[in-house]
Amino acid sequence: MSLYPYAERFGVVRAFPQRGRPRAEVLAEIDVMSEVEDSPYHEGRISGSIYSGDEAHYAFLNEVFGHYSHANVLQRDMYPSATRFEGEIIAMTADMLHAPVVAGEGACGVITSGGTESLMNPLLVYREWGRARGVTQPNVVMPVTAHVALDKGAHYFGIELRKAAVTDQFVADMDSVRSLVDDNTVALVGSAGTYAHGLIDPIDELSALAVERGINLHVDGCLGAFILAWGVDLGYPVPVFDFRLPGVTSISADSHKYGFGLKGSSVLLYRDPELRRLQYFMVSDWPGGLYTSPGMSGSRSGGIIAAAWAAMVTLGRDGYTAIAADIFRTAAELRGVIESNDELRVLGDPYFNVAFTTTKQSGLDIFHVNDFLASRRWRMNGLQLPAALHFCITRPNTQPGVIDRFAVDLAQAISYAREHVGTPAKSGAFYAGDVTREQIESGMASWLDATQSLPPS
Ligand SMILES: Cc1ncc(COP(=O)(O)O)c(C=O)c1O
Repeated sequence: MSLYPYAERFGVVRAFPQRGRPRAEVLAEIDVMSEVEDSPYHEGRISGSIYSGDEAHYAFLNEVFGHYSHANVLQRDMYPSATRFEGEIIAMTADMLHAPVVAGEGACGVITSGGTESLMNPLLVYREWGRARGVTQPNVVMPVTAHVALDKGAHYFGIELRKAAVTDQFVADMDSVRSLVDDNTVALVGSAGTYAHGLIDPIDELSALAVERGINLHVDGCLGAFILAWGVDLGYPVPVFDFRLPGVTSISADSHKYGFGLKGSSVLLYRDPELRRLQYFMVSDWPGGLYTSPGMSGSRSGGIIAAAWAAMVTLGRDGYTAIAADIFRTAAELRGVIESNDELRVLGDPYFNVAFTTTKQSGLDIFHVNDFLASRRWRMNGLQLPAALHFCITRPNTQPGVIDRFAVDLAQAISYAREHVGTPAKSGAFYAGDVTREQIESGMASWLDATQSLPPS
């Protein structure tokens, strides 16, 4: 990945331009860049990331966004529609996840900027919950596969994270979870499904443990909630992972992933409004006025919220279920293709996000497989511990012919891996995509420095 893309084609801006450029010229540049960048997803070659990919849906959402792109949700008096959109998004998501809502009481929620914020907020809430009960050194117990945003939140909020092992099926090992819980444990976390392997932790057992210990349980449904929720209706044996389980106290579900909204929104639900209150922040003696905010953000775009709402009300249960049917079917086909190669094995029992690696006997490096796939413009996600790839199926991958093309390229990728045994692979396990091992080895922090640096002079 180049750090200075388009420098040759369009030059670089190094200082504030004195005079503005014509809009048409700027739009022409944007057209070129976005068309090139979107083309692999149009061909269905991208894992995850682009969840809907329906051009007509995006055009509609962009139109909705346009009405409120300039609106600040904080100014509720100016834009009461934002209050309507938020309340209705929360109500629909609560309904989807069987939250106990009785005439405005019971479950409640907040809209956040994305999955990371929807995982960090509950950590803060459970720290405060513990503090009110005299826990000064709180810990949270979760399997090693829980999303890394929880590590980030624990770091920000001074919470000890205790990481439980996973079973050979890559879901939380309950013995390990139990062994880590003590009197300072304020919450457990389970995922439905995990980022790495798309798998569902034993949420029923985590729920029972949370009830037994009188502590909280957050379910990370950021990736999976808006797709797994339709699985049972489609006849898949998706285990219950939502508020029907009595120990589940909060769930995060990203409207900007399988909720098919625009990027920048997620829903965080709490079983009890008392929990939600713990994430509110209020200051009464600031010269700027009385300050209240429900979460971490300050100003927020009304456009993003309107778009998330519009996605949900236009698709409805029928629309989501129809797309989910295609995604589950495609993931099963993909799984069949992977398992038809003796050199590969699938990790766990996935429904929509299929992780796979090479078998020990094959002696092959999964990242060699990825190197070849990348050369054919497939963008897999590289994983580690163990080294693996995942292909998270989204709507663009469900087009006819995509999995057939993948099957052909995968077979060649295995041959390539065989030919390259003993040589270092170019790709590796990097969360943010197409970065070479060399770039990673040059140091993760310096890589970040580089991505945030000014263009070359
Ligand atoms: C399971 C899970 N949780 C949380 C997140 C974080 O979401 P975001 O990237 O919106 O912050 C992701 C992202 O892929 C995820 O897969």
